[in-house]
Amino acid sequence: MYPQRVLSGMRPTGVLHLGHYHGVLKNWVRLQSEYECLFFVADWHALTTHYEDPHQISTHTWDLVVDWLAAGIDPSQATLFIQSRVPEHAELHLLLSMCTPLGWLERVPSFKDQQERLTDRDLSTYGFLGYPLLQAADILIYRADQVPVGEDQVPHVELTREVARRFNHLYGREPDFEAKAQEAAKKLGSKRARLILDLRARHQEQGDDEALEQARALLQEAQNLTMDDRELLFGYLEGSRRLILVEPQSLLTQASRMPGLDGQKMSKSYNNTIGLREHPDEVSRKIKTMPTDPARARRSDPGSPDRCPVFSLHEVYSDESRLAWVREGCTTAGIGCLDCKQPLIDSVLAEQSVFRERAKPYEEDLDLVKNIVADGCERARDLARQTMRDVREAMGLDLG
Ligand code: TRP
Ligand code: SF4
Repeated sequence: MYPQRVLSGMRPTGVLHLGHYHGVLKNWVRLQSEYECLFFVADWHALTTHYEDPHQISTHTWDLVVDWLAAGIDPSQATLFIQSRVPEHAELHLLLSMCTPLGWLERVPSFKDQQERLTDRDLSTYGFLGYPLLQAADILIYRADQVPVGEDQVPHVELTREVARRFNHLYGREPDFEAKAQEAAKKLGSKRARLILDLRARHQEQGDDEALEQARALLQEAQNLTMDDRELLFGYLEGSRRLILVEPQSLLTQASRMPGLDGQKMSKSYNNTIGLREHPDEVSRKIKTMPTDPARARRSDPGSPDRCPVFSLHEVYSDESRLAWVREGCTTAGIGCLDCKQPLIDSVLAEQSVFRERAKPYEEDLDLVKNIVADGCERARDLARQTMRDVREAMGLDLG
């Protein structure tokens, strides 16, 4: 099976909190051992909304990478890089902008939403409108198959697919495409080639989608094809165009139910977060001062865990037997709220001590982080350059 490539990015807007860990990073850590993964800091994306105060972006960028490393992202498994260090993203963004209808961008839901929500900023800029197209370039330049994102980003991945489809349609023509495709098919061996060509005919002549799926699966499995031949054949299955850009899928991350200190979703804008690498004393203090069920004004008043934000956190950190202990103790006033909070504090601190341990060498020597990122940028740039060669050629810009 051809290795699937996963790509995702985060905007550098401040240090991460436990909501990011349970909602996003834990998932990345799992993915890095299953797929070829590329994770990047979307610093240009941060500029689209923070262009008036860009000075913190670089600090936030390094903090973000250290947070990733702390959470267990492993640079020997995943490629970590910074968007602005791979200027090819900007070139692809520009070229895609030539053939992307304005209406496609204006109707992206986050465009109007954010303009209405972030009223303290003027977001009627060209860069902000182009945000999702820049994101499309981020994804397409690596020919990523899977893009792990939250629900709010799914329309951006959908736009990316439309942009790729349109690009391939416009620029994927090649005069001797048919002959080249037949030539490439021969490399599959005559039996398999015939089967694939039959399936293609069934799809194109009778609209048989299952035949297309089968043919794709056969190509996916074929070992003895070069990257170019494989792309050529994938394009040939669907029409008479070369697929220069690959349509990605969103890999929907389960919405994190990570509750914050006040029971609402943990989020910087609610001011209810626990930082990923926050100092243990501060973490204890925050949990100790968390509001509890208001019915428990006195130690002797019984309470109800379902009305208590502390219990919501227990649901993330405690096993069944401890949850039962809380329920029993709370409803009978057998335990006090501080008794209830202590094991929670211990669990959060235990989780974070691993993060702190991992982060320590990087906090002490930022050059280690910079070297990891320099390597990652190098690798990312190689991939981006390959795609740009094909894109330029397809658009008639290979002025060799
Ligand atoms: N827009 C994403 C966010 O705000 C960040 C991002 C930028 C991204 N480019 C990307 C995510 C490419 C996935 C793939 O969260
Ligand atoms: Fe909340 Fe625990 Fe106090 Fe009950 S005992 S109110 S669950 S903190």
